[in-house]
Amino acid sequence: MDHFTYRAGVLCAEEVPLSLIAADVGTPVYVYSTATLTRHFKVFQEALSWTDHLICYAVKANSNIAVLKLLGDLGAGMDVVSIGEYARARAAGVPGERIVFSGVGKTREEMRLALEGGIRQFNVESEPELLALSEVATSLNLRAPVALRVNPDVDAKTHEKIATGKSENKFGIPIARAREVYAGAAALSGIEICGIDMHIGSQLTDLDPYRQAYAKMATLTRALRDDGHDIRRLDMGGGLGIPYRRDNNAPPLPIEYGQVIREAVGDLGCEIDIEPGRNIAGNSGVLLSSVIYVKRGGDRDFLILDAAMNDLIRPAMYGAHHDLVPVIEAAPGADRAAYDVVGPVCETGDIFEKGAALPPLGPGQLVAFRSAGAYGAVMASEYNTRPLIPEVLVHGDQFAVIRPRPSLEEILAREALPEWL
Ligand code: LLP
Repeated sequence: MDHFTYRAGVLCAEEVPLSLIAADVGTPVYVYSTATLTRHFKVFQEALSWTDHLICYAVKANSNIAVLKLLGDLGAGMDVVSIGEYARARAAGVPGERIVFSGVGKTREEMRLALEGGIRQFNVESEPELLALSEVATSLNLRAPVALRVNPDVDAKTHEKIATGKSENKFGIPIARAREVYAGAAALSGIEICGIDMHIGSQLTDLDPYRQAYAKMATLTRALRDDGHDIRRLDMGGGLGIPYRRDNNAPPLPIEYGQVIREAVGDLGCEIDIEPGRNIAGNSGVLLSSVIYVKRGGDRDFLILDAAMNDLIRPAMYGAHHDLVPVIEAAPGADRAAYDVVGPVCETGDIFEKGAALPPLGPGQLVAFRSAGAYGAVMASEYNTRPLIPEVLVHGDQFAVIRPRPSLEEILAREALPEWL
């Protein structure tokens, strides 16, 4: 459920008409809903209310500091994958003891800064990383709290570019080697083992892969305890999918996911951490855009928008679908036209949807891509020297710009000429 609905024929974010935001801030622009972000976070809290838990929001999904502060104030922890994301979480007021550091390639500098700043846990993905972390922690007279990310070799049945739990993927330690690597970790002076971590992929629409992975996690927990390790926290990763189309094929709900976790590991007495990103932020945001031209092609009409692949890359990168809706509601039974919806970037791949059925639209009219709150703004680039687009947060009948549109002067001023030119 989200809070983007038509009111008096105009698509609104909570109580604010998107046309008002477009007039005030310009398009393209990302618009997020406080009520939806809050609701999605609370649904996960409820799903894990049967146990001690921490919901570590995956910052990579939407890392705007205002979004992080909103979630942090509700009690969220954060899952970060770079010291940049760590700095964002801290700037949003989230204490180090609620921040988990994931990622296959943490540098020693990142480790040092996180250890000095305070950290809940490092999710370590390899033996060389373990050795580096131990050395950095020892040099600071600290012990780094560690969960090893274990690769369970299960098929998450999602897009190949976002599946992470098969043995061919770069992520985690092969589960068959886990006991040996834990034994090595326990012998390192700078490491304090606190748990196990897994993350098998993103946009999962089936709970079975979770069941398989978490069953392996339960078995491993018992084995590691037998080996004498203090396994007290299980990080189950993120990845629960969201409905990108408004049809009847909705993915499982967080409450059902919580039950899967409970059935698999509920009897182990561990604290449970999860790392949802998309499920919290995805349907909490839209990308609002204007039609620039309608162009008649040889055999089709093109709807040329002011948003492009550099603003929302998911369709070009993964063939992803984002429902596109007009901001002014079409009358029931109104005519529909078929458009290829494209952006202005000079690439054939700059296409959002082929043959989209929309009410007839003309220049200046507003449209919104739904489900754009996760992996939208964070994956944007300035390709074609198109400025990163602004972000707006709505709260009831108020809205605020939480990242302004940079001017061309600001963009150009970041560069420098060498003295010989
Ligand atoms: N934890 C770890 C270790 C992750 O790698 C990820 C996502 C998450 C949590 C959060 O997963 P979520 O709950 O958001 O599915 N850019 C792609 C998605 C990449 C996901 C990468 N890792 C997309 O637009 O679909």
